[in-house]
Formats: sequence, structure tokens, C-alpha cells
Amino acid sequence: MTETKDLYELGETPPLGHVPKQMYASLIRPERFGDPSDAFEVEVVDVPTPEANQVLVWVMAAGVNYNNVWASLGTPVDVIGARQKQGAQEDFHIGGSDASGIVWAVGDSVSSVKVGDEVVLSCGSWDESDPDIVSGGNPAFSPTFKIWGYELNYGSFAQFALVDHYQCFPKPPQHSWAAASAYMLVGATAYRQLLSWEPHVVNEGDPVLVWGATGGLGVMALQIVKARGGIPIAVVSDESKYDMCYELGAHGVINRKDPEFTHWGRLPDVDDGEAFGKWMQGVRAFGKKFWEVLGDRRSPKIVFEHPGEGTIPTSVFLCDNGGMVVICAGTTGYNADVDLRYLWMRQKRLQGSHFATTEECSGLNDMIISGSVDPVLSDVYQFDQIGEAHQAMMENRHAPGNMSILVNASDREQTSI
Ligand SMILES: NC(=O)c1ccc[n+]([C@@H]2O[C@H](COP(=O)([O-])OP(=O)(O)OC[C@H]3O[C@@H](n4cnc5c(N)ncnc54)[C@H](OP(=O)(O)O)[C@@H]3O)[C@@H](O)[C@H]2O)c1
Repeated sequence: MTETKDLYELGETPPLGHVPKQMYASLIRPERFGDPSDAFEVEVVDVPTPEANQVLVWVMAAGVNYNNVWASLGTPVDVIGARQKQGAQEDFHIGGSDASGIVWAVGDSVSSVKVGDEVVLSCGSWDESDPDIVSGGNPAFSPTFKIWGYELNYGSFAQFALVDHYQCFPKPPQHSWAAASAYMLVGATAYRQLLSWEPHVVNEGDPVLVWGATGGLGVMALQIVKARGGIPIAVVSDESKYDMCYELGAHGVINRKDPEFTHWGRLPDVDDGEAFGKWMQGVRAFGKKFWEVLGDRRSPKIVFEHPGEGTIPTSVFLCDNGGMVVICAGTTGYNADVDLRYLWMRQKRLQGSHFATTEECSGLNDMIISGSVDPVLSDVYQFDQIGEAHQAMMENRHAPGNMSILVNASDREQTSI
């Protein structure tokens, strides 16, 4: 019989299905809130026990997302304090909202996966007994909807992660653990933004403006628009990113740092003629550039938004009559101004969107498995570099695409155990 231990060093693997008492995890603690490079530290904690509907996963690799930049800073939400107010005992946060790994233990009522299955994890979690969900409601609208590895603890920055059974999806066999860990959060979010807000969904020939086109969300959005026959127009901040945009299917690219564009941030007062005129000059130049790279005087049917305060006035102005600006974040700030005249007179829609449902995750995962969307794996970090990866992301100096952390995987190419 194989001898078992209570704690396995990083690089060691327990026998399949043996759950040790403790594990290594990269923790954020309230006393370390601040820059991500200082917020994370590797410590030893108890391995959580799955409840009846839960699954314990041996994490091979973990994706890096902006949400754990926010968790490190402790703002706009102190995720540890928020959980403690709801009765949680843990005084730490194990982040990580993306992972690839192996099912190691399952709760009594789980039948959708079994020990040994190779899976990728989605971060959308909800209470399946919520009456709205039981009666067929969209779980993303449920008050119980939470993001695992951010609002919920025991994310993927640890040897073991704890999720509900419906968060598990088949790992794409052709991709390494690292690549497989990198796409679900951003990919499924982009999928919902672009394909779920009927009638504003991407169809053949629809122009779509994609902000931050080489960022995590952006690389997914470009590929999804392209796969649907739409015409993605990318926005980036540097010409060095142009080639990547074209490789991912962009029809044209705009550099937001072009000196012609001086109109970023909040709208000037509409009664301040001079300032407003200057703003209009900047936004019209941007609109003209959009037509130029599109090769047609059409406006975007959908604007794929996430920067927020810095770009919303432009997005609403540019969006086609009857079109939609769909937003999932406010990275540059939350006080976004909308000139309501353009919204109502031209009957535009400003739509919030937040992560995804099981069907949307599955739809995106199928696109990855079929090869129509690539995870766009960028830098791969070691387990003790989680803070560094998030610091690079916060400072927008990370490599284009999606980053991954090797947890139990040995290198970026490893594809099976
Ligand atoms: N609600 C959800 O479900 C959900 C899901 C995923 C992500 N998010 C959020 O979405 C945001 C972006 O996530 P991500 O993974 O795509 O991050 P990311 O990889 O850092 O990409 C963001 C991109 O935004 C662009 N950007 C930065 N500053 C900008 C500005 N002032 N104006 C216009 N563009 C700017 C940058 O590209 P350039 O510098 O080249 O323009 C960057 O590549 C984060 O706040 C994240 O928390 C929300």
C-alpha cells in the first residue's frame, strides 16, 4: 500500500483520491492589503472538506485575473471582512478564479464528475436551492450569484480548490494545464457580453468595437466576434500590439494613444461650450478613425466595454443607432458619464453584464475544444510569483493575453498528469 502523508511538498503528488490534512496556499491576509506584490504569501492551511454538492480539485494550473488585484488592495470590497460578516471563520483569502486540474474528491450527491476527471473550472457559483433558480431563473441574476476565488474562498491559488459540481467542465485535451487554466473567466464573460443580450448579439457582418483588445477579455472578444462572422475593430494603446490583434481576427486596429484623441475620461459640462466642443473634436476624430479602419461609414452595433469611466462617453457616442454598449467592469473608474441625448434620441442600450451561466461557460468551452477560440496563453509564473503576476497586471505591463500560474504542473507544456 502507498504510504500517505498529511502534507505534500510542492512538486509532490498524493495518490489519486487521497486528501491530505493540509496544503500549501498563496494567501492574502488583511494585514497585507496593498500592492499585490506584497499581499500574497505562501502558507500552510487545512484542506477544506467538500459538502454534498461540492468537488475538491487538485489544481494543476491557475489563471490570473484582475479580480485578485482588487482582492489584494482590499478595495472596493474587503472580501475577507465581507465573508466574515456572513459567518465565515477564515481570516484569509485564497484567490484564483480560474483553474485546470484533476477531480480528487466529490461530495455524496455529486454525479456529474468523478475522481480522476481532468477539468477546467468556472468561477460562477450560486445556491441551487434559490427558488428563482429552481423555477428556471437565470442564475446570473440570482442574489446568491458569487464569484469563486474572489467573493468565495478556496480559489485556485492552492494545491486544492473547492467548487460546486456545476463549476467543472471538461479540459480541452489539446491544451496544456497552463493554457487550460487561463481562459474560462474572461472567455465566458466575453461570450455572455457578445452572445446573450438578444437582440444585440453578434451576427454576420456586424461591426464590433473591442476595447483593450490584447487584454484578457479583449483577446477572447476578438476571436468570438470573428468566429460569429462579425467584424472586430480592436483598440489598443501601442502599435506593438497591432500584429497580435490581426492574428486574432481583428479587421482593423485603433491606437487610443494617438495624439488626435484627447477626449478621455468624464464628459465636460454640456453647458461649457468650449470644453464640450473640444471633447466633441476628440470623439469625432475617434469615430472617423473607426470608419477608416472599418473601410465603411458604419458604426459599431456592439461596443465591448470594460475600461468604464475613461471610455464610456466615447462608447455611447460611437455606438450605432439602436446598438448596445455592453460593460462588465470599470477598471478606470466608476463615475462614467452618459450624454443622455445620444442614448434616448438614438435609442442605444447600455447593458451591464457579469460573468456567465453554465450554458455560456459550456458554449465557450466548446469553442476552445473545437479550436475556434484559443486561450492565448501569455506569461507563465511559478507558485511563489502570484503577487508579481498581479502587480504586473495592475500596472498594465503584463504581456498581452492570459497569464497562468503553475501550481502542481511542472512546466507550461505539461498536458496530462
Ligand atoms: N464582471 C466580470 O464578470 C468580469 C470578468 C472579467 C474581467 N472583468 C474586469 O474587466 C477588466 C479587464 O479585465 P482583463 O482581464 O481584460 O484585464 P487586462 O488583461 O488587464 O486588460 C485590460 C485592457 O484594458 C486596456 N486599458 C487599460 N487602461 C485603459 C484605458 N484607460 N482606456 C482604455 N483601455 C484601457 C489595456 O489595453 P491597452 O492599454 O492596449 O488599451 C488592457 O490590455 C478588469 O477590471 C476585470 O476585473 C470583469
